[in-house]
Amino acid sequence: MMLAMSDASPSRSGTERSDRRPRALSGAQPTADSYHLGNYFGAFRQWVALQDEFEAFYFIPDLHAITVDYDPALLRERTYVAAAQMLASGVDPERSALFVQSHVPEHAQLAWVLNGITGFGEAGRMTQFKDKSSRSGTDNASVGLFTYPILMAADILVYQADKVPVGEDQRQHVELTRNLAQRFNHRFGETFTVPEAHIVKATAKIYDLQDPTSKMSGSNASHAGVVDLTDTPKQVAKKVRSAVTDSGSEIVYDPATKPGIANLLSIYSALTGRTIDDVVAEYEGQQYGHLKVALGDLLADFVGAFGDRTRELLDDKGELDRVLAAGAARAREVAAPTLELVYERSGFVRPA
Ligand code: TRP
Repeated sequence: MMLAMSDASPSRSGTERSDRRPRALSGAQPTADSYHLGNYFGAFRQWVALQDEFEAFYFIPDLHAITVDYDPALLRERTYVAAAQMLASGVDPERSALFVQSHVPEHAQLAWVLNGITGFGEAGRMTQFKDKSSRSGTDNASVGLFTYPILMAADILVYQADKVPVGEDQRQHVELTRNLAQRFNHRFGETFTVPEAHIVKATAKIYDLQDPTSKMSGSNASHAGVVDLTDTPKQVAKKVRSAVTDSGSEIVYDPATKPGIANLLSIYSALTGRTIDDVVAEYEGQQYGHLKVALGDLLADFVGAFGDRTRELLDDKGELDRVLAAGAARAREVAAPTLELVYERSGFVRPA
């Protein structure tokens, strides 16, 4: 009886792992009308690069988006824009599963199980929760915001993901995910792959054009220093021209003393694929203004083409829906067996 039971259980992460490609997984919240250049270089370009080596799962975390005040109609529209911008960035639905989180119910189902093995104090130590909840007072924060990192752990573990490309601000959440995976494995038997964070390199980090010591972010008070992927070429050229630069006039890469110029050089390098040294050499002896005009032109071309591609995708929502449905179907092929194994290990009687 005992033997028969373990034989009948679905494939374990341990045995399943040896004959598959390693898995990468990431998501980016649809909380603004558009993603920005920082998302593109800091996240999407890495996602695209990982598609060769990894079996990739990329998704739009709409369940996470409802943990703060939000507008349903806006969320719906932003979810489509998010999908179109991920595709325009080069996420290839033939190779990677691109989907909407709420299309795969196993995320929420696994999150509930993980809630049961997460300590209240452990969750309370998450710095992003502390930051976000302190803005309007902890009493006004939703319980969803508190358990947000546990849903994120479920996002990752339900796919047995090996690598999780994220920004530095998400490192602690991946650390929590690792702890929960190990804890579950220890208590209930080997079930989850313990994932690793894949933090983007400093040169792929883009800072606010008006405040080059804080990262480019959709939640920055002013968008004057944020290049949105829906900006027009004209808007972008203007934002670059008005970028804050540093005292002095020499074009050198020194993030500590010249964060403004360093940021422009990073963007230039990221956009052209040339090394920063190479770009610095080209502009040797020239003024900041020369660099700004050249970068403004390059970025204007980039957002122009990116915007065209995004609009094309958004013009055919039927096709977008089909791509997302296929992505969710592929995702569920992996998520469902994981959840089944988790339920079994948890002692839930399975429906006959
Ligand atoms: N919390 C992430 C962010 O704000 C988004 C996210 C949700 C995510 N689930 C994830 C990222 C799983 C990586 C893996 O950027």
